[in-house]
Amino acid sequence: MIKTMFTRTIHRVSIIQSHHSSISRREMSMGTESVVARLKSSGLLQTKGLIGGKWTDAYDGRTIQVNNPATGDLIASVACMGEKETKDAISSAYDAFGHWSKLTAADRSSRLRNWYNLLIQHKEELGQLITLEQGKPLKEAIGEVGYGASFIEFFAEEAKRVYGDIIPSTLTDRRLFVLKQPVGVVGAITPWNFPLAMITRKVGPALACGCTVVIKPSEFTPLTALAAAELALQSGIPPGVLNVVMGDAPKIGNSLLESPQVRKITFTGSTAVGKKLMAGAAETVKKVSLELGGNAPCIVFDDADLEVALKGSLATKFRNSGQTCVCANRILVQEGIYEKFTSAFSNAVQNLKVGNGFSEGVVQGPLINEAAVQKVDSFVQDAISKGAKVLVGGKRHSLGLTFYEPTIIGDVKNEMLIARQEVFGPVAPVIRFKTEEEAIQIANDTNAGLAAYIFTNGIKRSWRVSEALEYGIVGVNEGLVSTEVAPFGGYKQSGLGREGSKYGLDEYLEIKYVCMGNMS
Ligand code: SIN
Repeated sequence: MIKTMFTRTIHRVSIIQSHHSSISRREMSMGTESVVARLKSSGLLQTKGLIGGKWTDAYDGRTIQVNNPATGDLIASVACMGEKETKDAISSAYDAFGHWSKLTAADRSSRLRNWYNLLIQHKEELGQLITLEQGKPLKEAIGEVGYGASFIEFFAEEAKRVYGDIIPSTLTDRRLFVLKQPVGVVGAITPWNFPLAMITRKVGPALACGCTVVIKPSEFTPLTALAAAELALQSGIPPGVLNVVMGDAPKIGNSLLESPQVRKITFTGSTAVGKKLMAGAAETVKKVSLELGGNAPCIVFDDADLEVALKGSLATKFRNSGQTCVCANRILVQEGIYEKFTSAFSNAVQNLKVGNGFSEGVVQGPLINEAAVQKVDSFVQDAISKGAKVLVGGKRHSLGLTFYEPTIIGDVKNEMLIARQEVFGPVAPVIRFKTEEEAIQIANDTNAGLAAYIFTNGIKRSWRVSEALEYGIVGVNEGLVSTEVAPFGGYKQSGLGREGSKYGLDEYLEIKYVCMGNMS
């Protein structure tokens, strides 16, 4: 059960995963060099930026290293780009907008569909690339490819449904219309935790609407972005429609913010950076959508089905080794079920196999880097010093500097640092509560509002608590809720706008009102 749990993001993704059995045992445990060799021969290991359809070195020849977080091995050196390259990428996207936005929706749709097909065709290599540069277990990485590709498929279909309106006129000689038009050039700044899916969730709707894009992937995981861009070129998405620049994050970010040609910034990442981008976008009044940090409560009520609550809590806490914005950050357990739940949860967490994502049976990979481990450990130490108790784990893993033991900490209080900030690691802080009102109060006592989870068999309670939670996403008796067909986004400081679903299109569209007068 544990092994499959982290990959079952959505039913369709699990079906996609079940077809990847051609990966041999040997490949599952192969080293960086042999994976790199295979990726090179398939043409998917790109190391230059993509500007106007051309693979481009940094203008000053600088490079940055991309390392495997599990082993520290160098995977590749990639172009380290900055202001000049970003300006050129913006110009290419601006020039390409005229043509791309005027294609028929059906034409854009079929090119996106080609891209989806290529992503699925190459899901094993892309999965290997994700494991190599991000660390997540291979099965989970291939699951991400299915999840990421699903946004391209979904928005290829939605491209044909960007409808306007006809408004009944207030005057007999007038006709009133609403047109939906693409916003223009989009700057998409994406994180390392989902090196593919966080790109496709932005680029899919942008391209479907007729926008063009400059992507800045994380410096930790640019290779997946570049491989996806190579497949986009192969799929008939014209040069300049999709550009990728990476390297000097502040310089690239500022160039995107300062350019009047960029009409929209979309970002997934920390709340602190999101606030800076929002402020920076004010100068040129760009449209902004932000998918920022969470502090997800996972509330287990006395009347929950223990098995369901365990499975859901494990899945939402330990997916991607705790490195998702929707991972449970606080497990709130009602007093009547507290002992039973924590003891069963501890048994399950003790059995999570930690290791290199290519090794068979591993369900917990490394964290992205040593700094991430240091942060996780400092939160754990702070909680212990304030009276919390380690039930499982609680320290760095003997496998190396980027590994942390899957951990459960009991008797946590909501005032502790570990419950106030996003842990972003494999640590489950458990908080005991007495009443439903208290659980809701604790859950909402945070500036974040992305995802929340509740486990209960009470149908009235499910509705009541779902409505009371100040969160953009609520999972009821389910720990894995992300899917391309539903809106993803947060309340409060967890962000602005929604990604995925029909709502995801609105973020890339302008609304134009046309009034035709003197029609009688
Ligand atoms: C995220 O961590 O930002 C995305 C997680 C998801 O799509 O489920």
